[in-house]
Amino acid sequence: MNRVFIRTYGCQMNERDSEAVAAMLRARGYVIVDSERSADVVLLNTCSVRDQAEQKAIGKAGYLAARKKRNPDFVLGVMGCMAQNRGADLLDRLPDLDLLVGTQKFHQIPDHLDNIMASLRAQGPRPSTIIDLEAEAGSQNTIRDHLFTSEGDHAHDASAGAGEHANGSRPKQVTAFISIMQGCNMACTFCIVPKTRGEERSRPIDDIVAEAEELASRGVRDITLLGQIVTSYGRREFPFVDGKSPFVQLIERVHAIPGIARIRFTSPHPRGFKDDLVQAFRDLPKLCPNVHLPLQSGSDRILRLMNRPYTRDRYLEIIESLRRAVPEMYFSTDIIVGFPGETEEDFEQTRDIFERVGFDMAYIFKYSVRTGTPAAEMAGEVSTEDKERRNQVLLDLLHRQSLARNEQLLGRTVEVLVEGPDKVGRRLSGRTAGNRLVHFAGDARLIGELIPVKIERASAASLVGEVV
Ligand code: 5AD
Repeated sequence: MNRVFIRTYGCQMNERDSEAVAAMLRARGYVIVDSERSADVVLLNTCSVRDQAEQKAIGKAGYLAARKKRNPDFVLGVMGCMAQNRGADLLDRLPDLDLLVGTQKFHQIPDHLDNIMASLRAQGPRPSTIIDLEAEAGSQNTIRDHLFTSEGDHAHDASAGAGEHANGSRPKQVTAFISIMQGCNMACTFCIVPKTRGEERSRPIDDIVAEAEELASRGVRDITLLGQIVTSYGRREFPFVDGKSPFVQLIERVHAIPGIARIRFTSPHPRGFKDDLVQAFRDLPKLCPNVHLPLQSGSDRILRLMNRPYTRDRYLEIIESLRRAVPEMYFSTDIIVGFPGETEEDFEQTRDIFERVGFDMAYIFKYSVRTGTPAAEMAGEVSTEDKERRNQVLLDLLHRQSLARNEQLLGRTVEVLVEGPDKVGRRLSGRTAGNRLVHFAGDARLIGELIPVKIERASAASLVGEVV
């Protein structure tokens, strides 16, 4: 009766939210399982950034709802961005949901589930859907629990949704996400996130540092600081000190924790990417040389329509200053092709900057209309064929660029943080500081160690090497 499976759609924030919910549920006595088939309760943590992501989750929820016909005690919940975006209207499509929980109410899920379970045990009439979608002051401080998989049951697997490790055999956790803030005050005209995630709210530096220390004491070596716009971290709450923004102060504090070897963050905004942050890359050796900096478009005209307050020149300036600080810097980005009114000339500007920067990794999205956003009202819809073609042009370029960059490492020895067995389970895998995936043969005792690996083979997606 108490086996819960959480399926996660979308971004790393969502993965982190799911992990925190799983940890809270486990502390209440629920067992977290890693397949939906063996679960008594399935929670879908959803994404609204594109229509496709919503349709996927709705399809899955519809499919799971049918299980209730056979098993009336089966519990189904939808949480996160789509719950927030669509609200109770979602029940028109999915009348059998037990639980609909928004992005500021994740911490209430254990109470809600306890109530549902109690009424199922009492075998009374089935309660109506619990709907909890309000904003809640301080909710940014509630995403702090972590699921340490070596402790008991096994974690949900956000990407695959299928179990790869038997009970207790999961290796120790080497990398972790920390959610440092919630919400977004930008007003990009294409984006639904300000609606789904609410106003920017930051956690106190001390709380985040305490969480990082706790993770380090459990063996975590690599921390990624998460927020919708991390460069806005604490801007309204905490003062600048010695010309350093609250975000840079936070990085310095995490940097001082002895067990932590690597620090990353996602996502910054070009507007808030100032010199103090560039200097941090030069001065702080644990801050990894890999920056994810969403560009969205290389055309100034489209950037204006998107309400992205920077130009292509300013973007290139940030890239150049980071390369001056750390010559081996790796860059990744988010791009939208087919924004309303995007012409071939606009796209050519995007293609050009994509090549100039030489992105090693990128998420390339075809524009998707989000009801309620300003762009949804804009003229100049781009045809599906044009979107597809532009998407493919960038994907081809990305493939060539990633491959070329990986091939530069052939014959070189790089420092790899060993994360665990690779997918097949015969080798180990880990990442370089630049976030390139490396496979190699080695003993499981190496997990959590920084080791030198000589690179022998390279593809666009990964590297293969030998421990030196
Ligand atoms: N259509 C396509 N992509 C979008 N993104 C955000 N909104 C949309 C949309 N309406 C992309 C942006 C953002 C990433 C998380 O999702 O590139 O950086």
